[in-house]
Amino acid sequence: MNKMGIKSLVSITDYSKEKILQILDKAAEFEKNPNQKILDGKVIATLFYEPSTRTRLSFETAVNRLGGRIIGFADKSTTSGTKGETLKDTINMVSNYADLIVMRNPIEGAARYASEVASVPVVNAGDGANQHPTQTMLDLYSIKKTQGRLDNINICMVGDLKYGRTVHSLLMAMSHFSPTFTFIAPDELKMPDEYKMFCREHNIPFKEHSELNEANIADADILYMTRVQKERFTDLFEYEKVKNVYILKNSLLQNTKPNLRILHPLPRVNEIEQEVDENEKAYYFEQARNGVFARQAVICDLLGL
Ligand code: CP
Repeated sequence: MNKMGIKSLVSITDYSKEKILQILDKAAEFEKNPNQKILDGKVIATLFYEPSTRTRLSFETAVNRLGGRIIGFADKSTTSGTKGETLKDTINMVSNYADLIVMRNPIEGAARYASEVASVPVVNAGDGANQHPTQTMLDLYSIKKTQGRLDNINICMVGDLKYGRTVHSLLMAMSHFSPTFTFIAPDELKMPDEYKMFCREHNIPFKEHSELNEANIADADILYMTRVQKERFTDLFEYEKVKNVYILKNSLLQNTKPNLRILHPLPRVNEIEQEVDENEKAYYFEQARNGVFARQAVICDLLGL
């Protein structure tokens, strides 16, 4: 909550366990009936300072299906930011126009700053390598839907665990539900120490490996694949070294648990072979669809509707 008493969703830690469960129940209701007039008369601003396909379009679908209207931009080069306008002034201005702001920005902490200056709720749609809380809500929704529960799930996170903001948010959210983690990453992209410290403080068991092989994923309920985040590398030579470090194929999935489901926040580059799309354990496109319902629930909650 900011000085004006406005609630935002900036980090998944803004939500208690009870709030997470309440939002997931609300999302399930929206999945049954996504077309309603709840946002009639409301204007939602989507301010995307970084590229996006799913997050922006699923937010906009969520609002359109609930009868609200959208303003915003998908490309910062079309805004007065290019003339030197500050983020503070932009957020102040947009607060005059919209009832809620959804913002993606490459700078870690930009969403928190925006939430402090805005006079309307702000939803963090990704701030650098930091957090992506609505992705986490749709990930939790997808886990609950596919596993029938959130408690005692074994999650194997694979790929870019250093820069992948979705794994950071998911790890923190799952701390309410007694998870077990396996982190599979090359040395250059290991889970940052602060998140491993978080696991230790919350008595969450985790293992670390650098190989994606049958043995390391044998116990997983969820295989959470991630893309190597090219845009976060300052040295593209370093990116070239790790970009194809893991490639998931059907052959690797043969002895996995029957209930295993493969999640990926998308976009995918090379880390999941196209053949896996037809595997019954692939769930990433349904996961992206779930984003509409989770985001409808988040928006309505923040607007008190
Ligand atoms: N998952 C996700 O954030 O996708 P986009 O970058 O396409 O929004």
